[in-house]
Amino acid sequence: MAWYAIFLALIVAAASGSVLPGTRQKAAPYCDVNQCALPDCLCSSLEIPGGLLPEETPQTVLITYDDAVNVLNYLNYSSLIFNRYNPNGCNIKATYFLSHEYNNYSLVNDLYNRGHEIASHSITHRTNQDFWLADDVEHWDKEMADMRTMIEYFAGGDSMWTSLSNNNFEWDCSWPTRNYVDPGMWPYTLDYLSQQDCQIGSCPVQSYPGKWVVPMIDLTDISGNPCAMVDTCNVGTTADEVYNLLNSNFEKHYLGNRAPFGLYLHAAWLLDTNHLNGYKRFLDGLTVKDDVYIVSVSQLLEWVKSPTPLSSIENFVPWQCDTVPSIPCAERRCAYDAAHTPFGSERIMSICNKACPFFYPWYDNIYGSNPSTPWVP
Ligand SMILES: *[C@@H]1O[C@H](CO)[C@@H](O)[C@H](O)[C@H]1NC(C)=O
Ligand SMILES: *[C@@H]1O[C@H](CO)[C@@H](O)[C@H](O)[C@H]1NC(C)=O
Ligand SMILES: [Zn+2]
Repeated sequence: MAWYAIFLALIVAAASGSVLPGTRQKAAPYCDVNQCALPDCLCSSLEIPGGLLPEETPQTVLITYDDAVNVLNYLNYSSLIFNRYNPNGCNIKATYFLSHEYNNYSLVNDLYNRGHEIASHSITHRTNQDFWLADDVEHWDKEMADMRTMIEYFAGGDSMWTSLSNNNFEWDCSWPTRNYVDPGMWPYTLDYLSQQDCQIGSCPVQSYPGKWVVPMIDLTDISGNPCAMVDTCNVGTTADEVYNLLNSNFEKHYLGNRAPFGLYLHAAWLLDTNHLNGYKRFLDGLTVKDDVYIVSVSQLLEWVKSPTPLSSIENFVPWQCDTVPSIPCAERRCAYDAAHTPFGSERIMSICNKACPFFYPWYDNIYGSNPSTPWVP
């Protein structure tokens, strides 16, 4: 898989000592716990926020899906997550990192209305690992921000981003750690220098006040190798092996410092029946535990900002059942012949509440406007 190859290339680059970005700017100072206090600042560490004990701490689980949502993987999502509940009686939440190609914006609208978190995974689907590469941050921001604008524009409305915060990407979940797995590293802010190991070629060294990092804590696969995304792990070939692997990795967190456990994957991984069944069985096991909560990234960070013990977790407002109003979708199917896409091949795109754009929307023309009559909403 190309993604995997690029990822490996970056690890090799790291090993051969590439220069960290931000050398033009001052490096962030070391974190001082007396200067860096919740809710807006947290030093990178292995300590449970708020000084809670593990047994007082809800075990959070992040389930995320990368790439386009389409009619097929939506069926998998619906059977996997729609009818599961956290111990407080509210639906579990997933986070979707969307890219544009073959994305069905009408289905995104549905996932949003069900309370799931919608995040940007870039328009053209470069890898997460590119994010921090030195000279490319501007270009990357544009890809991420423009993808976000497209989701907002084509999936329903300006109010979709209550769950994605304001205009900035206030969190990042693309930075794997291999060294801080057991005990795991908790989320932290980039006000000060991070202690997290840099496995991805280059990592931030400047201060980005208030920006949260949710470390992607590596799993250990069946061959004993670390892997950040489930799809890059060797999970074995049977549903039992998949289940056992996920469960043994989960237990490092659950029986340890209860750092959030992340299951990050591309939907294509679920096409394998053994993957799907092992994963499903693993989720079945989680949702019967009364101290495990499957939450979105934003919900996790709300907890970290205001660490709440299990004894009062049922009243923790950010984890309560949804109150956000649904955004209606009047669906429109837009068909493009080869001359109206940048790829020389056809595309079909489903959107909500808008007229079909003239061109298939893409990088540098996210509204798909006709160059002879350029147009921006
Ligand atoms: C999951 O997706 C695959 C491939 O698209 C499909 O064959 C399968 O029926 C789906 N499973 C469920 C439970 O929706
Ligand atoms: C997008 O999803 C909707 C809702 O399921 C479906 O009716 C539509 O055909 C899908 N569009 C495409 C292009 O697959
Ligand atoms: Zn992807």
